[in-house]
Amino acid sequence: MKIKTATIMAGAAIGMPIYAAQAAELNLICSADVVICEKLVTEFEAGHSDINVNMVRLSSGEAYAKIRAEGRNPQTDLWWGGTGDPHLQAASDGLTAEYQSEMLSEMQDWAVAQAETSGYRTVGVYSGALGWGYNTEILEAKGIEGPTCWADLLDPALKGEIQIADPNSSGTAYTTLATLVQLMGEDEAFEYLKGLNANVAQYTKSGSAPVKAAARGETGLGIVFMHDAVSQSVEGFPIEVVAPCEGTGYEVGSMSIVEGAQNPDEAKVFYDWVLSADAQNLMPEAGSYQIPSNKSATVSDKVPDISQIKLIDYDFAEYGSADRRKELLAKWDAEIGGRASE
Ligand code: G6P
Repeated sequence: MKIKTATIMAGAAIGMPIYAAQAAELNLICSADVVICEKLVTEFEAGHSDINVNMVRLSSGEAYAKIRAEGRNPQTDLWWGGTGDPHLQAASDGLTAEYQSEMLSEMQDWAVAQAETSGYRTVGVYSGALGWGYNTEILEAKGIEGPTCWADLLDPALKGEIQIADPNSSGTAYTTLATLVQLMGEDEAFEYLKGLNANVAQYTKSGSAPVKAAARGETGLGIVFMHDAVSQSVEGFPIEVVAPCEGTGYEVGSMSIVEGAQNPDEAKVFYDWVLSADAQNLMPEAGSYQIPSNKSATVSDKVPDISQIKLIDYDFAEYGSADRRKELLAKWDAEIGGRASE
């Protein structure tokens, strides 16, 4: 808690009761990597000494579930980062508030499109394509050629070498599920996921955990956003980053203010600040290599070059809709999740 010292001293000097003026609070859920989450909070507090930020890092699906569970008694004010689909679902459930920031004029078209799709209850903060990272030393030692296509991940030689997150908790894994459905068709995608399941050693809670495990040599390959694989290779780990040959999906990482938030004004101050080019330029410093949504932000040369990646025309309105997301997750639970420990 921050105390305004000047207020206390003025009160003491004239013999009045001393009331310590408390800094305003902001309760933030952050769904990107914890390093950038902490950096944003530190830099924001440094420039806004009157606002104390309480931040918790939760994966996108978990954040959605928490905001939903809080319902009419919200404990969360603002939700920054994480994949766009659960932000869109929260918007369609009426769990998040409409806000048209003045900063929208500085945003890329895809970030504004995300706001429009949600009736201005969310906005794009970054973007990045899905792919994977594999540990070159592990695969080489096992004589496995580096997989470059989704089809290659079904190679029985990769048995026990793949990690991916659980799409219920992780937006990354939900993006993978929705991508495969859009790329292959729903029945084919579930057949593919059943085949993949034979090679999956673990379904993690957080989306980027699989490539962190691959970097540490605990598994051969992690299906993640490409920028999460880049972070590990920049750190010096033997990780090769892959954009799947058949094409791939992408996220529009998003931000939403909670409907009925206890601290809506503070939420808006953070919201406007974090959309600025200066705030978004902090991302590469924290090892986060997404494409920033502010048109004037600097794009690090480590950010995967989207023009070289075969992207599908990801349908955010459909796959972020409450019905479709619920339906796909229930099907994944029934057909894939239940087999995870087989
Ligand atoms: C990582 C990525 C973000 C993404 C997030 C989703 O932090 O860098 O771009 O939005 O994962 O996290 P989740 O745990 O929900 O998959």
